[in-house]
Amino acid sequence: MRNFISVNDVTDINVLVKKALMYKANPFADKILGINKRVGLLFLNPSMRTRLSTQIAAQNLGMDVIVFNVDKDGWALEFEEEAIMSGNTVEHVKDAAPIMGKYFDILCIRTFPSLKNKEDDYSELYIKQFIKYSGIPVVSLESATLHPLQSLTDIITINEIVENEKVKSKKEKLKIVLTWAPHVKPLPQCVANSFAEWVNKWGNADFVITHPEDYDLDERFTKGATIINDQDEALKDADFVYVKNWSTYKDYGKIYCNDPEWMLTDEKLKLTNNAKVMHCLPVRRNVELSDEVLDSKNSIVTQEAGNRVWAAQAVLSEILKSNY
Ligand code: CP
Repeated sequence: MRNFISVNDVTDINVLVKKALMYKANPFADKILGINKRVGLLFLNPSMRTRLSTQIAAQNLGMDVIVFNVDKDGWALEFEEEAIMSGNTVEHVKDAAPIMGKYFDILCIRTFPSLKNKEDDYSELYIKQFIKYSGIPVVSLESATLHPLQSLTDIITINEIVENEKVKSKKEKLKIVLTWAPHVKPLPQCVANSFAEWVNKWGNADFVITHPEDYDLDERFTKGATIINDQDEALKDADFVYVKNWSTYKDYGKIYCNDPEWMLTDEKLKLTNNAKVMHCLPVRRNVELSDEVLDSKNSIVTQEAGNRVWAAQAVLSEILKSNY
């Protein structure tokens, strides 16, 4: 593995999941793999789970870690080629990224979309420019359109629950539902896009996506899933329900319907096969998910967030083994 930007960088999801669960059972199995190697974690946006779990993962592999909050402590970066830098940006990524390539062995980057210009956001310019100019492996800590470390974690968590709790699906295959939820702010589509493309490629489940009309996601990620606008119908017999808000994709970055009826409640959970409830966090309580669900045994959000360490460790380990 050279970079980790999307599911397309992974040859075999099940092998990567197995590796992550091996690290969960034995965190220091490869404690000298990353000795004398340094990873840079660059944040252009806030984070708690991604920041902490990736640091812990790198340290478990013996790596040195430097966290750099580009948005607060760095120069404002320019990403456009041939830009005339007479505005607010101070340093071009073409100049900054090769220097990062000298300081670090792996570069991990978090960026968010503007939610103003779909073409710009979906071009993934920021992460592509770091790949082009840093000369070292690049890991996405969430980009404008995808959150692959979160999605790998989600598949790890589903695997773990299925194996440990012997989930008895009412269907021939496991049923996983991704449901839109209300929110107070327009949010990126990345977690939903990413979850969709990972579950589709994984292929071990009947995968249903449910959202109000106008919230269709990009078909490049959802192709293969069943899309239903009736949430109650979608939830029927689900084994896992993944709750997430996203803003509109077609008329980009807007909030249309924000019907509180779409919040997942205990009443709605009764439609499912006693489903486990997932969310990437942070979550707006009693807007996206009710207290009663989040505080119930059905919620696996803490286990899910805990597994972020093992996903990051499996990915960093693969990159170290293939490149150094
Ligand atoms: N789920 C997730 O990426 O959380 P953070 O934004 O806190 O990193």
